[in-house]
Amino acid sequence: MARILILYSTTDGHTIEICKRIKQTLENHDVELADLKDTPSLTAGTFDKIVIGASIRYGKHQPLVNEFIAGNQALLDAHPNAFFSVNVVARKPEKNTPETNPYLQKFLGKISWKPQLLGVFAGKIDFPSLGFFDKQMIRFIMWMTKGPTDPEAIVEFTDWDRVDEFGRMVAEL
Ligand SMILES: Cc1cc2nc3c(=O)[nH]c(=O)nc-3n(C[C@H](O)[C@H](O)[C@H](O)COP(=O)(O)O)c2cc1C
Repeated sequence: MARILILYSTTDGHTIEICKRIKQTLENHDVELADLKDTPSLTAGTFDKIVIGASIRYGKHQPLVNEFIAGNQALLDAHPNAFFSVNVVARKPEKNTPETNPYLQKFLGKISWKPQLLGVFAGKIDFPSLGFFDKQMIRFIMWMTKGPTDPEAIVEFTDWDRVDEFGRMVAEL
């Protein structure tokens, strides 16, 4: 039974939901989830595969994602590994693959780690839970990009079949 570590970076929790779904897909594996905020220290031999998932906020993953990758690249490279990004631009069919998602491409250009498997998933917008500034900003961005702007809307764009498919690909790494 392969031991798989899924590390995540989230602001509002949707990336954790995606990690939990990946864990379900990997039901025959020993899967552990850990928040990058808790600065997990990796030791060689503890896990067989490592997956990192992170959400985008105002154009970037949280800085701790880059920091963790830079500090642990040798260990990441020593394991089968994968990375996925969560953002709402990925709701657009022309921006929903690792090759076409601008945030993922920009991120990959800034790090020297080359994940063996890449994923990109559309996230969720929960307007009522946002503070005044973020709500207005996201409504404006959504208006600009022809998305939902209703301040009461909770919209989940995630295609869960694609998450399941990614989970199956992690199993095959
Ligand atoms: C304040 C804020 C800023 C965001 N900025 C972006 C952005 O620049 N580009 C984008 O595609 N999605 C953006 N998003 C959408 C998030 O990536 C999406 O809501 C995702 O599901 C968040 O995942 P999390 O809950 O794990 O943090 C933003 C969301 C919020 C609330």
